[in-house]
Amino acid sequence: MSDKAQLIVEGKTYEFPTIEGTEKEKAIDINTLRDTTGYITIDSGYKNTGATKSAITFLDGEEGILRYRGYSIEELAEKATFLEVAYLLIYGELPTQAEYEAFEHKIRIHTMVNEDMRRIFDGFPVNAHPMGVLSSLVSAMSAFYPDSYDEKAPDSTELHIIRLLAKLPTIATWSFKKSQGHPVNYPKNELDYCSNFLHMMFALPVEDYKVDPVVSKALNKLLILHADHEQNCSTSTVRLVGSSKANIYSSISAGICALWGPLHGGANQEVIEMLEDIKADGGDVAKYVDMAKNAKTSGFRLFGFGHRVYKNFDPRAKIIKKAADDVLAKLGVNDPVLEIAKGLEEAALHDPYFVSRRLYPNVDFYSGIIYRALGIPTNMFTVMFAIGRLPGWIAQWKEMRTNKEPIGRPRQIYTGATPRDFVPMNER
Ligand code: SDX
Repeated sequence: MSDKAQLIVEGKTYEFPTIEGTEKEKAIDINTLRDTTGYITIDSGYKNTGATKSAITFLDGEEGILRYRGYSIEELAEKATFLEVAYLLIYGELPTQAEYEAFEHKIRIHTMVNEDMRRIFDGFPVNAHPMGVLSSLVSAMSAFYPDSYDEKAPDSTELHIIRLLAKLPTIATWSFKKSQGHPVNYPKNELDYCSNFLHMMFALPVEDYKVDPVVSKALNKLLILHADHEQNCSTSTVRLVGSSKANIYSSISAGICALWGPLHGGANQEVIEMLEDIKADGGDVAKYVDMAKNAKTSGFRLFGFGHRVYKNFDPRAKIIKKAADDVLAKLGVNDPVLEIAKGLEEAALHDPYFVSRRLYPNVDFYSGIIYRALGIPTNMFTVMFAIGRLPGWIAQWKEMRTNKEPIGRPRQIYTGATPRDFVPMNER
């Protein structure tokens, strides 16, 4: 790799340093570009632009590799608990037994939410989308913990990290309970993280609720698979908001809003709705593959397919596809949309349009099929993604703050009107 890059602009040659990461990724450091050349770069969607250097997650889109702090997603999904992975992402190392127990205990004793948050929650309409409720209530948490934005207060970031990890599942289940007309459940501290979430989601005051270990294990794996993904749209949002020294609750709330979009985390809800439409339309997957290829006229997009970085199989999609078969078999669930999904995948992977654009199933393609088998409703799927992604957002926010990165403020090229004089209204 050359340690310098040369740029020739208006006949003059400029040199810029290059950097190489621990996984041999290369970058040209253009920090002095505008000052030395008068030029900036333009890169819509930041397809070629690195926003930061990070030690948290590595992914290789060509090889379909994903590692959290050097550990492969395959191993972590198989061998770790979600809180172990959360600890790894946030603090950089897998916890010892003592560290894990202390971390888990701190989370357990913060799972309750201030009762006044219920008054805010009660104001939402029954059909409010759970992502809108979640982002609003997470932002509202800053009002209950004002030291999170008081520059003069002693640093309480670690406690706010614990509060977010502990309270997000509790808040997330409220929307579902309200939509069912059921009373919300309080967390039960004797349960582990995933079992507690399932208890709060599905327990009813009229009968005992027993967590099915198959369901809890499947949820643990799904949350691990969603835990971080380097500089994706919602994580970049969390970093950008946090770079202005906004508090952690506002930064995470902004990440939840970005994740809601159907091109990002909202795709998992879109996938199931798309599969249901295909099923209702007779299951003719070839017809929908054709529609996706003519998106400009059909307006149809194959949700759960394609990725900005993965130009090979999303390793998470592979794991989730296998887990879907296992979980549905263990639960005795026969979901016809699983076969439709497999048929769609098969058709697309052999179609030149998808092959030439290197469009493969992504993390959202099969996840909804498992969530549905676990009894989680479609409009809660992106909330599940948010619960999984929370430790990644926190880790990236903490890294940005620890590294004292500057406020994010991109440049632009102005293409609007050139100077002109004001014209009085009666002369326009
Ligand atoms: C996530 O960034 C992350 O890491 C995100 C994520 C994470 O963990 O944080 O992995 C989670 O968001 C996964 C992606 C979920 N979104 C979807 O499934 C929505 C459907 N996919 C797309 O809209 C699209 O693939 C994106 C948004 C994911 C990526 O878009 P890009 O990189 O901007 O690519 P593009 O839209 O420019 O597409 C390139 C070409 C285009 O065709 P041409 O203009 O060359 O003719 O591929 C086509 C697109 O039309 N294309 C698709 C397609 N996705 C891209 N055509 C049909 N169906 C699709 N799904």
